[in-house]
Amino acid sequence: MSLVYLNGEYMAPEEAKISPMDRGFLFGDGIYEVIPAYYGKMLGFDAHVARIQEGLAAIEINLDYTGEQWRAICDTLISNNPGPNQGIYLHVSRGTDSKRNHAYPRGIAPTVFAFCFELPGEPTADAHSATTYTVSLEQDRRWQRCNIKSTALLGNVIHYQSGAREGNKETILFNAKDEITEASSSNVFIVKDGVIATPVLDNQILPGITRWLICEIVRSHSELVIEERVVTKAELLSADEVWITSATKEVGPVVKVADTVIGEGKPGKIWQQVQTLFTTHKFDY
Ligand code: PDD
Repeated sequence: MSLVYLNGEYMAPEEAKISPMDRGFLFGDGIYEVIPAYYGKMLGFDAHVARIQEGLAAIEINLDYTGEQWRAICDTLISNNPGPNQGIYLHVSRGTDSKRNHAYPRGIAPTVFAFCFELPGEPTADAHSATTYTVSLEQDRRWQRCNIKSTALLGNVIHYQSGAREGNKETILFNAKDEITEASSSNVFIVKDGVIATPVLDNQILPGITRWLICEIVRSHSELVIEERVVTKAELLSADEVWITSATKEVGPVVKVADTVIGEGKPGKIWQQVQTLFTTHKFDY
């Protein structure tokens, strides 16, 4: 038995219905979040809620849900869905209009939808059993406001799919100046000579909650050096380690980028240190 949330009510998934005139359906006009929960405990909840509120404000969707309301929805879904490890998907669209019109309509209520999906388990810091990633590499063709976690993900989907077509599980992206932005559904880190670097936050990338947690944890718990700065494509391809990070992957070790094997083609030593720190401290924030 599983339950989803739609506009103030909990129901079986097959009972959740929205109009095809919903602007989320017609325009991808909405904001979303993905929050992991392990044994009922959510990871980075406050930061995820802050990001959804910022996204809603950025596109002028007025939704008055407080953090406590979001927490109650998430907790209800967690306890009414199977499995110890769950991802919670939150989605707010601008709502259902009577006609298709690009302008933001006045006086319609946002559509709020949320569901849980089962996660295979907590990512591990064990190099032998960790999930590793081979990734494609291509020029970022998405829009110029990638800092907004928009439900309009066609650009990301196309990039992901071209990686999948090459047998890969992600696609890392670079801009017209050959600077790394992020990946289709992850942020990117590199390690060179013991120094960790990740692209600086701007309009080209999503401010990932996992990225933020890694920066916080590494800065307060280890002697490692972490830099937020421009990272070039050449640096990526000559890095000792490359990681892709997201709510569900945590610190994902990349072993190959396009035709280039990264380091020794297996999870690196700094990855192991950082994923271990992450596992230990991820619920402290
Ligand atoms: N994706 N960049 C992009 C484009 C993303 O879609 C994601 C997350 C991230 C990492 O953000 P976070 O650490 O907050 O998960 C970076 C989610 C998980 C998704 O679309 O399913």
